[in-house]
This record gives sequence, C-alpha cells and structure tokens, in this order.
Amino acid sequence: MTLHIEERDDRVVATLDRPEKRNAIDQSMVNALHELCTILEESPRTLILTGSDGVFAAGADIAQLRDRTAEDARRGINATVFIRIHELPMPVIAAIDGYALGGGAELAYAADIRIATPSLRIGNPEPGLGIIAAAGATWRLPEIVGDARASDLLLTGRTLDAEDALRWGLVSALHPAAELLPAAHGIADRIAANDALATQHTKRALRTPRAGHPSVELELQAELFESPEKHRRMTEFLERKSR
Ligand code: COA
Repeated sequence: MTLHIEERDDRVVATLDRPEKRNAIDQSMVNALHELCTILEESPRTLILTGSDGVFAAGADIAQLRDRTAEDARRGINATVFIRIHELPMPVIAAIDGYALGGGAELAYAADIRIATPSLRIGNPEPGLGIIAAAGATWRLPEIVGDARASDLLLTGRTLDAEDALRWGLVSALHPAAELLPAAHGIADRIAANDALATQHTKRALRTPRAGHPSVELELQAELFESPEKHRRMTEFLERKSR
C-alpha cells in the first residue's frame, strides 16, 4: 500500500508512503486517494495529509508521466483527485515535511490548512520537465499567495524554502519535524471541539465563488439557526456558572 490510513472517530491521518521514490504520486496512490475520499464523503472527518520519511511528495511519478498521452492529460488524473480532496466536507490539513514538489505541491495547495517543517522545499518544477503544472497550481496558487507571487514561482519553476513559504502565507506555521504531526493533531482537536456541521458549512461558504454570496451563507446559517446543537451550545454559554 502506498497510502497508509489511520482512522479515528473525528479524524483520519493519511500518510503518502512510498519513501523509496520520495512518495512520488503514482496511479496506485491516486486510486488510494480516491478510496480515501469515498470514506470521507460518506463519513465526514478532518483529514491530516502527510508523507513518510521526511518527504511530503516529490511530485507525480515521472516514470509514469513520461508515458502518458494527450488523452491521459485530458483525463486530469491528479487534478481530478485533488479537486475531490479540496471539496471534502471537513477541513483538510497538509502537514508537510521536506520536499513538496510538482504534484506534491499541488496536493498541498488543495488542502485547507498547510503547516510545515523548517526543511520544507515547495514549488513546481514542471516546465523543466517539459510540461505545465496542471493539477491545480495555476488557479489555486494565485488564490493562496496572489498573482505576482504565483507567477514568480510557476514561471521560474523555482523552489521556496520554509521561511519564504511562511512569509508568503503559503504555509501558516513551521514546526520542528518531531512536532509537525502533534501540531496537525492540535489543529484537528480545535476543529473537533466545534460543531461539525458549522465547520462544514463554513468550508462550503469559503469555497463558494463570489457571485454566490451572501445568499449561500444566509441559507447555510438558516439551517444552523434551527439546529438543536446551536441551541445547546448557546444555552451552555449563557448558563455558565463561572462568569
Ligand atoms: N517520480 C518518480 N520517481 C521519483 C520522483 C518522481 N517525481 N522523485 C524521486 N524519484 C525517485 C528517483 O528516481 C529515485 O529512484 P531510484 O532510487 O530508483 O533511482 C528515488 O526516488 C530517490 O530519488 P533521488 O533523486 O535519488 O533522491 P534525493 O533525495 O537525492 O532527491 C528530490 C530528492 C525530490 C530533490 C529529487 O528526487 C527530485 O528532484 N525529484 C523530482 C522532482 C520533480 O521534478 N517533481 C515534479 C514532477 S511533476
């Protein structure tokens, strides 16, 4: 198995696990990611995505990419699964150690929250291989870091180090490698303490194109205003004895 999955009640930890190939994303890993999405669509939980052995992912598998055809490109093998990951109902946290290159970077861009270690090296070297970064980089990266910085990174194919990625807001925090997963779990703990439906609705509102606002959040809020959990949580606050 190239994707190791640990299921808990309120979260799933998925580890890209092909260390001998620097966790390069091949078809079997894409298939496993689709299976993971099926699990999380049926039973929504926070997802922590990480990589084994000090690497997140060194890209799509170049040995497979070299043989892919125009028809394969149009199928968007990685793009499709990264969109599915991005659209999971609950938050996706990428915990990134070391290299996140090419498709590995694009998988990280598909997450909602990115944290990393000081050894992070992130970027899209695709033009150096004679292809474009077609699994989300050209539209997600500008949304995350802005047009100018996305153009700088994608048009040069250069790699950002951890400090620059933090400065750009591409990752929201840096932690030593031993503290990376505990930090990701800390974020998942915070999420788990909130109402799951409110979290899912927040994510949906965040993902809605501008033209859909404000009607989308008003409708989502309408549902939440009638929910027993909203009433319970607000009553609990109002009746706190220690105020
Ligand atoms: N696809 C397929 N195989 C890959 C790979 C990828 N994206 N990245 C690494 N590998 C393989 C190497 O071919 C090598 O295999 P081998 O042992 O059978 O020869 C093995 O993983 C180890 O890679 P190596 O380059 O020796 O490791 P390193 O630690 O010296 O360097 C990287 C790590 C990430 C800097 C380097 O592997 C690299 O540049 N990878 C490609 C990055 C890239 O261009 N990604 C974009 C793809 S779209």
